[in-house]
Amino acid sequence: MALSIAQFTFFTRAASSSFLHRTNARFNHFTFSTPFSTAAATCTRKKNGRLSVLSALELGGVKIARDDVVRDDPTNNVPDSIFSKLGMQLHKRNQHPIGILKNAIYEYFDASYSTKFDKFDDLCPLVSVKQNFDDVLVPADHISRSYNDTYYVDSGTVLRCHTSAHQAELLRDGHTHFLVTGDVYRRDSIDSTHYPVFHQMEGFRVFSPKEWEASGLDGTSYAAEDLKKCLEGLARHLFGAVEMRWIDAYFPFTNPSFELEIYFQEKWMEVLGCGVTEQEILRNNGQLDSVAWAFGLGLERLAMVLFDIPDIRLFWTTDERFTSQFTKGKMGIKFKPFSKFPPCYKDMSFWINESFTENNLCEVVRGVAGDLAEEVQLIDNFTNKKGMTSHCYRIAYRSMERSLTDEEINELQRKVREQVETKLNVELR
Ligand code: PHE
Repeated sequence: MALSIAQFTFFTRAASSSFLHRTNARFNHFTFSTPFSTAAATCTRKKNGRLSVLSALELGGVKIARDDVVRDDPTNNVPDSIFSKLGMQLHKRNQHPIGILKNAIYEYFDASYSTKFDKFDDLCPLVSVKQNFDDVLVPADHISRSYNDTYYVDSGTVLRCHTSAHQAELLRDGHTHFLVTGDVYRRDSIDSTHYPVFHQMEGFRVFSPKEWEASGLDGTSYAAEDLKKCLEGLARHLFGAVEMRWIDAYFPFTNPSFELEIYFQEKWMEVLGCGVTEQEILRNNGQLDSVAWAFGLGLERLAMVLFDIPDIRLFWTTDERFTSQFTKGKMGIKFKPFSKFPPCYKDMSFWINESFTENNLCEVVRGVAGDLAEEVQLIDNFTNKKGMTSHCYRIAYRSMERSLTDEEINELQRKVREQVETKLNVELR
């Protein structure tokens, strides 16, 4: 059993875990102790202009230093392993499966619409809580806002957990047709389809009254029909002649909302989430009489299926046996796995406490083992007569690139045990 109870429920996530179907997490150990001022605008240059050369990077024209993002502060839950992903922008590499897929989707939109969609793939992933949640009407008590699910830089700033975070600002800037591609960040479980950084593409299209008035339909029905036509065409462009179905869904920012599923390799697979944009979002951002549609899709999930990539960690490898297999502009290529090294399993049991969450455990494991952690599975769970609950987890260690030695794995496991005890305050058994 994988850790997330939200497995394969939604597709904009690398494999699942929708905006709505988040893991049902309890609050974790990151608590607000004192009031503090929030960084009003994120992604601004550091006021003192000080940047440590080694760890500074530039995103969307904005310089970001490590200590802008990773801080030893209870309002911050960004580990170094996540900071190190910030400048990678796999979606901007034309020979990487994520970049090849992005370009194939661009091609579809360029060929299908006379009005060009404005394309953004360099917007800074540090956004305000307002952009990520409030502007797209995510309720104040929505689980996705929790420290267990989202990476907070401080109480007012997050690493975007979806590309919908940019809808409002682009509307305000006057864009009516746009595609936003970017890296998005979610705290999550560890298995072959989940990684705390993945890539999404957002699509958005605004209609003015004269576009639907002639059709005899109301604005919402007109937009919903156009949306479905557009996305069915996109699915055919990527997958060929496949069977498709529409499922009713819920998102805070669209109504009605849908998910598209396609029948592929003998099962129904969620491809994307979408819907007709809530009027309030349009009104708040300068579009008074319009209607609009929006969609969001997870690029890893699609790329894994289209290119036959069996493990999500492969997207991040620099091993030439992976990177050399893909070619700019070529969609049909199937990945040929290079030799698989054996996994090594280590179990650990402990008494959990009130604030224990599986996402926190996975963060500790990734912090120690990085991409050598292949899977973390709950294999035993019981409560004794005193009401204490014990969990036993099995960690699979495996490198994509080489064999691991026993000593190396024992050392990783020793560190994981030590940090699980100190950071999560649980009692090892
Ligand atoms: N932002 C949603 C998610 O990440 C996807 C979505 C985008 C749904 C736009 C509807 C409209 O799950």
